[in-house]
Amino acid sequence: MFSLRGPMNLSFFDDCYKTMKIDIPTTRYAWIIHAVVWIVSPLLTHVRSFFAECIEGFEWLFRGPELLEKRYVHGTPFRVRTRTRLYHLFSSREHIEEISRANEDNLSLVAIAEEVFQPQHTMNGIELNRLGLQRRILRTISLKLGHYQNPITDLVRMELSRALSGGPSTNGWRDVEIFTLTQKVVTRANTHTFYGQNFTDDASFLEAALQYPRDVFVAAEVLRCVPKAFAGPACWLATRGHKASKHLTAKLIPMIERRIACENSGATAEQKDYVQHVIDLYPDTVEDRAHRIVEQTLALWFASVHQPAITLYYALLDICEYPEVREQLLAEIHANRNPDGSIHLDKLILLDSFLKESARLNTSESISLRRKALRPFTFKDGTHVGAGDWACIPQRPIMRDPLIYSRPDTFDLHRFLPKGDDASGSKQRARFTDLNPMYPIWGLGRQACPGRFYASFITKLVLVEMLSNYDFKMDAVPAQRYFSWRSSLIPRPRLQFQLRQNI
Ligand code: HEM
Repeated sequence: MFSLRGPMNLSFFDDCYKTMKIDIPTTRYAWIIHAVVWIVSPLLTHVRSFFAECIEGFEWLFRGPELLEKRYVHGTPFRVRTRTRLYHLFSSREHIEEISRANEDNLSLVAIAEEVFQPQHTMNGIELNRLGLQRRILRTISLKLGHYQNPITDLVRMELSRALSGGPSTNGWRDVEIFTLTQKVVTRANTHTFYGQNFTDDASFLEAALQYPRDVFVAAEVLRCVPKAFAGPACWLATRGHKASKHLTAKLIPMIERRIACENSGATAEQKDYVQHVIDLYPDTVEDRAHRIVEQTLALWFASVHQPAITLYYALLDICEYPEVREQLLAEIHANRNPDGSIHLDKLILLDSFLKESARLNTSESISLRRKALRPFTFKDGTHVGAGDWACIPQRPIMRDPLIYSRPDTFDLHRFLPKGDDASGSKQRARFTDLNPMYPIWGLGRQACPGRFYASFITKLVLVEMLSNYDFKMDAVPAQRYFSWRSSLIPRPRLQFQLRQNI
């Protein structure tokens, strides 16, 4: 206890005065000042931290990647506090591996997806990761990618020639929006992988399939800014009454019902596309089964278009910026083309190195391995993450750290090529799909991206086609290739390059 008279026990106030940055008063009326300080100090601390959070939150919103770069110190954890969340960022190998090994009940990836995308509003209420279906099916598809090479190459060609048809041209060159092109190419190709040949030529389906991931992205952001009570109407407005998802659902349900009827009659399915895998694995007992199956495929659709389209956007910009890259990649493609025109994608080690380098310098997210602590989590070294906080890794600063990557700001096409021999005498090869704590674009551990083999496959197919049969250029590649929003780096939607067929 303290007395309000005479020389008081001031230790109680020390912190208050320190907070207010004033000297401890010693006059006979000091007790009045002490009383005022006693009342005002906690208030001041509150107001200060409120404004600090607002400023940090504001910086995070508009300059997230720069904020991370400023705070990053090799291997040392740091935190970013916004009004709604505390982010704990880890960059030491030990911390990263501990996050990747943590149980989903402690540090949860699904909880992050549910918080960011609010699937109950943006994805027709789908239960994410139901039965681990996506992971199982993607594993099967990844083993059979060779089957997709010819049909997908045809679809890529179709979309590229569509991009060049109509509109003004000079000597065959046309101005084309890069991100729109990459989104359209990936959308058409994925339509085949997901739904077979059913909709690859259906203009209104393709339009809705292109719009749907954009709707999810925008609606998820809108929902983070409005009170929960308005979530439904806000989402409805942001997606124009769920127009794209309703259109896709209306087209997909009859196709799925036909296939289910076919399955019930004992016939074997002709097509083994993604949706057929879902039909085969989805429990028979679930009510409104066809509808639920559509939701499953649409939940994956977002990831399957959004990320590969961004990777391609940056890869094309890098080829425009470093024209010497183009010649070397082309030489490798020619050397690995089979007489029937197909390509040994697996042998394109320079393309792997190129994609790795391009993605190293142009991550679409500046953080990775995002996990929400469902309960308090303590690392082996005692570092603590509170329940509800996010643990993640600052992948953009990590991949630009000079202690990890030499000359990190230089684009080095050969950076990931096999260098020294390992103990067995063979050269270690780095693949785009490799998982590595210091190259965490796919996440790590049990929950690492199961779509990475498909993403790499499709990205390579598009690049091989564009390098082999098209010319593309920009007068000057802008230094600012993206705009940032929170931790995301979003391609500039209107950025154009010039494209023409080279034969
Ligand atoms: C360049 C393209 C892509 C990138 C950079 C990427 C990156 C990621 C990352 C960072 C994660 C979280 C992993 C973790 O935190 O440990 C993830 C999860 C996931 N990705 Fe991808 N991804 C890409 C393409 C794809 C594609 C094409 C598909 C599907 C066809 C896909 C399906 C998934 C799924 C289903 C998960 C969730 C896994 C789970 O919940 O256990 N991704 N991806």
